[in-house]
Amino acid sequence: MSYKHQVAEKIASALVHLGVDSLTKENVYNMLETPPNPAMGDIAFPCFQLAKALRKAPPMIAAELTEQISGAPLKEVKAVGPYVNLFLDQEMVAQQVISTVLSQGKAYGDSDLGQGRNVPIDLSSPNIAKPFSMGHLRSTVIGNAIANIMEKQGYKPVRINHLGDWGTQFGKLIVAYKLWGDEEKVKAEPIKELLSLYIRFHEEAENDPSLEDQGREWFKKLEDGDTEAKHLWTWFRDESLKEFMKIYDLMNVSFDSTNGEAFYNDKMDRVVQLLEEKGLLTESDGAQVVTLDEYDMPPSLIKKSDGATLYATRDLAAALYRHETYDFAKAVYVVGNEQRLHFQQLYKVLEKMGYPWAANMYHIPFGMMLKDGKKMSTRKGKVVLLEEVLAQAIADVQKVIEEKNPSLANKEEVSRQVGVGAVIFHDLKNYRLNDINFSWEEMLTFEGETGPYVQYTHARACSLLRKGNYQPESQTSLAPGALDSKEAWAVVTLLNAFPDIVERAGDNFDPSLIGKYVIDLAQVFNKFYANIRILAEEEEIKASRLQLVAAVTTVLKEGLRLLGLAAPEEM
Ligand code: ARG
Repeated sequence: MSYKHQVAEKIASALVHLGVDSLTKENVYNMLETPPNPAMGDIAFPCFQLAKALRKAPPMIAAELTEQISGAPLKEVKAVGPYVNLFLDQEMVAQQVISTVLSQGKAYGDSDLGQGRNVPIDLSSPNIAKPFSMGHLRSTVIGNAIANIMEKQGYKPVRINHLGDWGTQFGKLIVAYKLWGDEEKVKAEPIKELLSLYIRFHEEAENDPSLEDQGREWFKKLEDGDTEAKHLWTWFRDESLKEFMKIYDLMNVSFDSTNGEAFYNDKMDRVVQLLEEKGLLTESDGAQVVTLDEYDMPPSLIKKSDGATLYATRDLAAALYRHETYDFAKAVYVVGNEQRLHFQQLYKVLEKMGYPWAANMYHIPFGMMLKDGKKMSTRKGKVVLLEEVLAQAIADVQKVIEEKNPSLANKEEVSRQVGVGAVIFHDLKNYRLNDINFSWEEMLTFEGETGPYVQYTHARACSLLRKGNYQPESQTSLAPGALDSKEAWAVVTLLNAFPDIVERAGDNFDPSLIGKYVIDLAQVFNKFYANIRILAEEEEIKASRLQLVAAVTTVLKEGLRLLGLAAPEEM
């Protein structure tokens, strides 16, 4: 239990003693403040809110409460006006925090909130035969981090790549390929070639509208299981997936399922039938819809007039499938903010169908990646290709390593870890709903609030441990006074905060809390390192300070891992 929780517990029972039993430990915990000046204590508890219940002035309450609170980890408790100011026994807290971190290792911060229950997480989900966009990058890194964080909370994440692999565009693509395609070219550069076929189709269709009809026909054939259509579609899908896999491998992201939209083809009739049975389908201009007027939402389109099912229908089928397959605690969809309405409609339709579990579904939206303040568009060739960004980032890191540490053993692997880390962290340090302006310069800086800065800090701490010949097995209690400095205390308090940060990040689906946290921890550690002697001290002091350093490496590494970044020990 963190020291803040210990203190909250003490205050809560003191309150019961005074006759207040309406505040839980958690309530008290959330009321705790940090005094503006450390001379006033480490923690403050304000008494304003209690005045009514106790019919006393807050300073009076503070004085009475102060009488009732004592014992470890507190050194002193003082009433100051309406506040109870609490002073920690910092040495004792430091000892507690450091031995907890070192004995638990990477399990530090774990909880069993999720009790092993499944959480399907819909993430990445690019559209095949199209380039992997920055939007899909966002979904991939945010979704992967959320999966890691929830796993740490005791859930069992199921990473699902809901590939966009079905729809009328594949009819068009088949027509374009049959007219102008070249097998060798597609094999060599599948995405690029398929995209240019798709673009050409639209250009030529402006003068020759019959192409659109052919496209529709071929999609119909595909839906009806025509061998040639199916064969081409499967090939496009496989080639695209191979290409996407290269990106996922670079980023070290993997999936438990790549069941995309097409996977639900044979599960659509059942959805439509269920909707019909429940009397939820209405006809509108020849199409079948579920009206959502009562929620002030436009109707959800289930079946087009030509009988084709839609994106929404597929998501309904997918939701039913996921509920049946995983019996989920929560179902998470990491998809851009543009699709907010789509998911609201989806949940409402499920609710109307009578499924209470729809309340456990969460759309986790994120903002756009902009370029020069505008949305990137595939059609206008305005996209920045993710592959290029990753390749550039890795090459840049390689150059820096070549200059600064040419004898590094595994240069290639480290360059990949750090280059990719820069790209991932650039996204995750921002609150997900904020738009991000793409800038080569920002993405490829390695100083300031960046992934490489945190990775470098971790590597520096590791090298300190090597130089100091730190022995993890021979942990001893801290030498008196060894960590008696504001620099060490700043590190200790942040180490102590990690489990709470993980909890908040998980509960709010917000990896940026971890991003900001690792930056903060790296910064306070670097201050400690700059101002406090470590290796040149006598043996016991040195050993104690190295234990703090070791605890920092453990937590930095784990924090980076949750975000999807590696933590090389040397760079
Ligand atoms: N392929 C879609 C797109 O790129 C995202 C799919 C999101 N997942 C879902 N279950 N709808 O816009």
